[in-house]
Amino acid sequence: MNILITCKEDYEKILSREIISYNLNPQTQGKGWVLAAENAPAALQDHGGLCFACEILLDPVDIKGSSVNNFTEILVNSFTAHLGQRKIDLPWSYRFFSSTQENLIHHTNTLEQLWLEKLRKKMSRVAKLAKEGMPRGPETGEGFFVYVTDFNQAYVSFTSVSQGQQRMKLDPQSPSRSYLKLEEAFYIFGQCPKEGDTVVDLGAAPGGWSLSALKRGARVIAVDNGPLKEPVLSHPGITHLKTDAFKYHHEGETSVDWLLCDVLEKPEMVVDLLCQWLKEGRCHYFVVNLKLGRRDPIEVLKELRDIKEGLFSYCNKLYIRQLYHDREEITLMGEARANA
Ligand SMILES: C[S@@+](CC[C@H](N)C(=O)[O-])C[C@H]1O[C@@H](n2cnc3c(N)ncnc32)[C@H](O)[C@@H]1O
Repeated sequence: MNILITCKEDYEKILSREIISYNLNPQTQGKGWVLAAENAPAALQDHGGLCFACEILLDPVDIKGSSVNNFTEILVNSFTAHLGQRKIDLPWSYRFFSSTQENLIHHTNTLEQLWLEKLRKKMSRVAKLAKEGMPRGPETGEGFFVYVTDFNQAYVSFTSVSQGQQRMKLDPQSPSRSYLKLEEAFYIFGQCPKEGDTVVDLGAAPGGWSLSALKRGARVIAVDNGPLKEPVLSHPGITHLKTDAFKYHHEGETSVDWLLCDVLEKPEMVVDLLCQWLKEGRCHYFVVNLKLGRRDPIEVLKELRDIKEGLFSYCNKLYIRQLYHDREEITLMGEARANA
């Protein structure tokens, strides 16, 4: 079976290298996508999921249309043929998307509108139940997914595996844009600090990540030599320690609820630090951002996924993702294994 994997633009080569490490075979690629052959879709969620993938469309059909009208006609026919005699009583997901090339986005929107109009005429009850957007990952979701690769070409699939990346909304009070990364990480992970949780935020200044935890009612220990900014600085839930993150040891409780780490350091140093925390059972959950710098991302992933020495032996759950809001970075989200 083939799969179409979308990614951030200019990450196609890195994604191809990553999927080769999953024993998939890249076939063709374009701006923001790679088509690959594979045998076991379930394996895509192993080893923390595909880090550089955004959406994974299973068994995509290559569709070509000579005009917008002809294109949408084919899309409606492909949808109705797929439905066959099946009765639809519940809301179902659909999504038309493309690379970020402006005129292609415009074209994709036109296709979507026309397809919906045609569907309403043909099957008004089914069209009323249509819900725009991808089903939430990491499990496979059913629906109608159209990835437009060019003005007369698209891939259509009825099954997707979303890696969950999302554009988040910035809180105007946040001292930094890094806030967006943590909000996105919580969204993908499906967990976040709750009222009364203890959170250690390493590399906290100027305070975007701390704000995200404080807003959820957590008590935050912010570790950074740099200054925090308002409103975090004078928030009653914050304790600021001007200490080195690599030397910090939590006093009192043996284990904190959350470890957050956005320290500007080499990824191998940060991973070592995280492993130390996990080995000693010092946190339950974590979100850690790795700044790749000059490191080859695939080498970093290989080290993380190394069964013997890697992070997996210390985790019940681990997601590794390049977030929508990450730049030359990747983010780890996980739950520690008790008695790791
Ligand atoms: C990208 S910024 C963090 C942004 C922060 N997460 C936010 O949301 O505002 C990286 C921070 O790491 C801090 N840092 C670098 N090395 C550190 C270390 N060894 N110990 C503690 N903080 C460190 C820097 O001072 C800087 O404030």
